Formats: sequence, C-alpha cells, structure tokens
Amino acid sequence: MTAPAPGSPTGDERVAAAAGLSELGAEAEQSRTSYGEGALIVCDRLVRIYAAEGIEVQALQGLDLLVEDGELTAIVGASGSGKSTLMNILAGLDAPTAGRARVAGFDLGAMTQRDRLGYRRATVGFIWQQTSRNLLPYLTARQNVMLPMRFAGLARRPRGRRAGDLLDMLGLAKCAGRKPAQMSGGEQQRTAIATALANQPRVLLADEPTGELDSATAREVFGALQTANSELGVTVLVVTHDPAVSAEVRRTVAIRDGRTSTETLRHDAADEHGNATRHAVEYAVLDRAGRVQLPREMTEALGMKDRVRLRQAADHIGVWPDRPREAPEAPEARGARRGEPA
Ligand SMILES: Nc1ncnc2c1ncn2[C@@H]1O[C@H](COP(=O)(O)OP(=O)(O)O)[C@@H](O)[C@H]1O
Ligand SMILES: [Mg+2]
Repeated sequence: MTAPAPGSPTGDERVAAAAGLSELGAEAEQSRTSYGEGALIVCDRLVRIYAAEGIEVQALQGLDLLVEDGELTAIVGASGSGKSTLMNILAGLDAPTAGRARVAGFDLGAMTQRDRLGYRRATVGFIWQQTSRNLLPYLTARQNVMLPMRFAGLARRPRGRRAGDLLDMLGLAKCAGRKPAQMSGGEQQRTAIATALANQPRVLLADEPTGELDSATAREVFGALQTANSELGVTVLVVTHDPAVSAEVRRTVAIRDGRTSTETLRHDAADEHGNATRHAVEYAVLDRAGRVQLPREMTEALGMKDRVRLRQAADHIGVWPDRPREAPEAPEARGARRGEPA
C-alpha cells in the first residue's frame, strides 16, 4: 500500500491472517452505542442473507455506513455487490438479517408493520430504475404527485398546491396534465422524483434511476436529485453506474462484496491561476473492527493472498505479501536494503 519508510524506528511486525482479526473487544462493543450518533442514516454491521433453495447468499456482510443530514451521496459498486439490498433495507421494503439500520431515528430492524407503513409513507421517498414502476400509467403527472399526499390524509387544495410547486421546481410544469406514456423517460423519472418528494421525506433513495436513460437525459434526472437536495434539504442516496454522476457529488461510497470498501471525497478548490478545480481523494474505509479492504488490483499485482505482513512506521502502516522464506529482518538492518520490506 505504501512504500517502506527507510530507517523508521517503530518496527512492529505482524502477520494479519485473513480471518481472525474481527474479534471485538469490550472497547469496540462500547463504541457501538455511540456509533453514528447524530447521523441521519446509520448502518451498523448490516447483514442480509438470502436463503434460496438451500443456497445461502450473503448480500450484505457487515456493512457500515454513516450519512449526515443534508448530504447527497452516490453509491457505486459492481453488479451483485449488494447495492439494491442496502437500498431496499433503507427503504423499509426489506429487513436486515442482523446488524442495525437506523434512519431518522427509526430502527429498521425492529419496526412493527404499522411503523413500517408510516416510515415508507412519510420518512423516505424511493425511485426505481424502471420508469414504469414509479408512476401509475392512468394518472397524470400531477395526479401521480398528489396520490401519496392523499394517502397521508392531506386535503385536496394543499395537495394540488404542493404538486404544482414540486412540478415547477423540477421543470415539469408543462407535463402536469400528461400521463406517463405522453412523457419522455427523463420526464417520467423527474415526475417520479416529484412523487417521492410529495410527503416531505427526510431521505430520498434512488436505485440506478438513470440506468435506462441516455447520458444527456441521465444528467437531467440527476440534476433533479441535486435540486431536491439543495432546495428542500432532503438527504439523497443515489446508486449509479454513471461516472459523470459520481464525479459531480461530494461523496461517493463504493460497495464491494456486501461491505463499504472505499470512499471518494471531492471538494472544489482554486488552482494557481485562480481557476476552479475539483479535487478527488479516494480513501479505503477502515471499519470499527479495524478492517480495510485492499483493492483487488493491488493485492493481485503483488501476489497477496490469505495473509499479509503489516509494519507500523512513524506515520503509516505498510502491508507486504507473505513470503515465508524472506523472514523479516530486524528494523536496524533495514536502512541498508532500501526497497525491501524489512
Ligand atoms: N431475493 C433474492 N434472493 C436471493 N438472492 C438475492 C436476492 N436479491 C439479491 N440476491 C443476491 O444478493 C447479492 C446482491 O444483490 P443486489 O443487492 O441486487 O446487488 P446490486 O444491486 O449491487 O447489483 C447478489 O448475489 C444477488 O444475486
Ligand atoms: Mg441493483
């Protein structure tokens, strides 16, 4: 991961076996209570196991994730990595097998049927990838947006007013009287966003909302999510494969094998000529049990498998492949042999 620091004084060689480091001490157990305090979305070692025809699929394998109120976060990851499973749990459509998921104070693993219904109606809005799944085909855009407010018991007049405001905000005024079949794919997805916002949710969840759209239309739909985030302050979590989308958000979380593996944070800065530039820094996620996922391309390039050696230096931790015949030397001998892991 990092180059060895020549002559570093603190040689603390260890062998980290692939398994066995995950035992949690009392200290870690204590951090559980305070983990994510103040965050709007808290996933605490979330596990979801599907058992189908005797085969067990571990879709989420102890996923940790914190999202602050008002953030717009992109979730990326290979197909099958667990993104939809996570979104469905956060949407209250599915329940975790183990671990904890909390959204706006709701404990998603311990909700009654009634709580769940209320949660889905008022706290989260959800947008599916399939445009046809988001809207009722026989209702106009305006009627679609009004429908969740009717379920929530809002009177007709305020329903109509809010639907109009939301459609205006998302640039859909001209579609108000049209049915989904009379709208483009992008207009339908933006109407779906307006519908998901109808009951003023705290969180908007969108699972590949632009997956069926061309890139120009995808931008438009993503723009609507940004508008919802900036104008209404709603927290947005969007699963996307589109690098153009993930390049525009401040925070991108990558999921690999059912766990959060890396995070990319971007911020705007000015270069030496005063021009605005975007900086992106990719981080590996360090979970509370001390686990880090090493990127596959790095471990494969160095032939790392099953176990690796760790060495603590003054300001970093080095990771080396396990080669039994090259026993680590004493730290003092290292200065003479640069490039060797010691
Ligand atoms: N209902 C289900 N029954 C059995 N396995 C499932 C089910 N849903 C998803 N899976 C499996 O769980 C894993 C994660 O799936 P999913 O969350 O849909 O991934 P993604 O959205 O990242 O493509 C995959 O291996 C998938 O096959
Ligand atoms: Mg999916």
